[in-house]
Amino acid sequence: MCGIVAYIGDKPALPLLLEGLRRLEYRGYDSAGVALVDRDALWMRKQVGRVADLDREVGGAPEATVGIAHTRWATHGGITQPNAHPHLDAQGRVAVIHNGIIENFSQLRLALEADGVVFRSETDTEVLPHLIAKHLRGDPLAAVTEALKSVRGTYGIAVLFADFPDEIVVARNGSPLVIGLGDGETLVASDPQAIVAHTRQVLYVQDREIARITRGRADIRTLGGVGVQRQSTRIDDVYGVADLDGFPHFMLKEIHEQPAAITRCLAGRVQVEEGNAKLGGLNLAPRDLVGIERVVLLGCGTSHHAGLVGAMAIEAMARIPAQAEIASEFRYRHPIVARDALYLAVSQSGETSDTLGAVEEVMLKGGEVCGLVNVVGSTIARTCGKGVYIHSGPEIAVASTKAFNSQVSALLVFTLMLARARNLSLGQGREMARQLQEIPSLVARFLDAPGPIDQAVERLIHAPYVLYLGRGFSFPVALEGALKLKEIAYVPCEAYPGGEMKHGPIAMLSKGSPVVFVIPDDAHRDKAMSNLKEVEARGADVIAIHTEGDDEIAALSGVSIPIPRTANWASPLVSVVPLQLMAYRAALALGRDIDKPRNLAKSVTVE
Ligand code: G6P
Repeated sequence: MCGIVAYIGDKPALPLLLEGLRRLEYRGYDSAGVALVDRDALWMRKQVGRVADLDREVGGAPEATVGIAHTRWATHGGITQPNAHPHLDAQGRVAVIHNGIIENFSQLRLALEADGVVFRSETDTEVLPHLIAKHLRGDPLAAVTEALKSVRGTYGIAVLFADFPDEIVVARNGSPLVIGLGDGETLVASDPQAIVAHTRQVLYVQDREIARITRGRADIRTLGGVGVQRQSTRIDDVYGVADLDGFPHFMLKEIHEQPAAITRCLAGRVQVEEGNAKLGGLNLAPRDLVGIERVVLLGCGTSHHAGLVGAMAIEAMARIPAQAEIASEFRYRHPIVARDALYLAVSQSGETSDTLGAVEEVMLKGGEVCGLVNVVGSTIARTCGKGVYIHSGPEIAVASTKAFNSQVSALLVFTLMLARARNLSLGQGREMARQLQEIPSLVARFLDAPGPIDQAVERLIHAPYVLYLGRGFSFPVALEGALKLKEIAYVPCEAYPGGEMKHGPIAMLSKGSPVVFVIPDDAHRDKAMSNLKEVEARGADVIAIHTEGDDEIAALSGVSIPIPRTANWASPLVSVVPLQLMAYRAALALGRDIDKPRNLAKSVTVE
């Protein structure tokens, strides 16, 4: 989603800013822009499309050493050049880049228009430069502080002033901002990965804080004017420049990285001899584990689907009520936060605004919340203060694949730890630990010979509607498979629990309708089999993901994709892989932009 990079130092700012934007590309965006300050004048270029398109427009730029740059993911106003950031005040003396949403922008805009201000864009952001210019009387920091007093909403902003070429002002409320301190230079970004090539020493700006950034310095204050003394921290978890390693797309590379990612997630945590597991970051002793009466998993998108699997595993193995909640709904539902419940915020990026909002709501109501996050040092990880890193490694493709499997793995490790402290015997714990350890090799074995994926793809790509079905642990897998097909191939589809299908979606089926059925040999298999027969009787063309050797299901399906046998709670880790591959190859056949699908963002930092 939107990305911010700013630089003040002694080097030419433009190449540095563009390189920073390139490092943020994976997050998803639709336009980009840059502003520099040179000899008391602002120079600006913006462009719809990719950073490479902006790069072609920057010929003749001044050799400035101060600048700001932005990638925009449209919220207010279409994908147009005027709506791209930076935005300027009427005189072209103040430039602003902004992540987040100004909720009261229409009132602010009307008031400014009544004062004679003419707007050049449809964005919420444009009110900011006009407001700041209105309050500018010799002190940039004071002007931004004053302007923000009338603003309601979320923001991470960086402001450049033609008349104050030796400083940048930044502020944050709800949208991440990090300041990197170098030798005689300072960088600012919405994501540390944009600046780590230059410095590892960073300061995280907190909500309702503002900072004056100069060469090698950052003076932080609260918006109330109180000075903030903050120690810088060192970032060690640095993603190298993303490399395709010979794969045509990051998504395919990441699908193939799953055995290694799951291995990393389990390493040092699963204790086969003790029949137990250890997640040190949760800081929960057996006595605390025994006191947990409910587990609530908060997340969005793929992370919510991983949460659904986790909740089922916790109920099945640890016998504790558990539920997965969509974070965007949870946070505004005035939820009842139980004292004896454990809340887990599941997020790949650790920056998803809705998940963060849910975390804050739980904390506000006195609940205990831990993170289950991939990106080390991300906002959710820092806000929770304790939790589990899933150690997936960087996930670049917008459609999440390996993070899902790592999240599920981490949740299963947690389940083992919780269940062992409560109702699992040593023998049962050992068996669960052993089965967990076996998963990476089973996923690798499937990836080596994935079966007739292309036969399935032929049936999907021109279908007006595809139905995904699954029961028990396979229902979240069906949801995740359908999400992948929508996200990257744009094929209309939906997922239903097998038993619920006859209460509506069955009406959509006619002769030849593709139905993807996730039907491993578990406790639900026979019930699912009845559903399979029901869709088959309506002429559906079934693509079945089933356990190796289940000839009965193979015989009933148009396309049979066998997967290795696992414990029922572990089956999602394997059964999701053919669905990821099907979505990938469908998108490939349809000529889609697989790693950067339309309209989507990797890191959704607005509500
Ligand atoms: C976006 C991404 C999804 C992701 C979701 C949650 O919608 O496109 O792939 O599942 O956000 O992201 P998170 O980083 O919190 O896991």
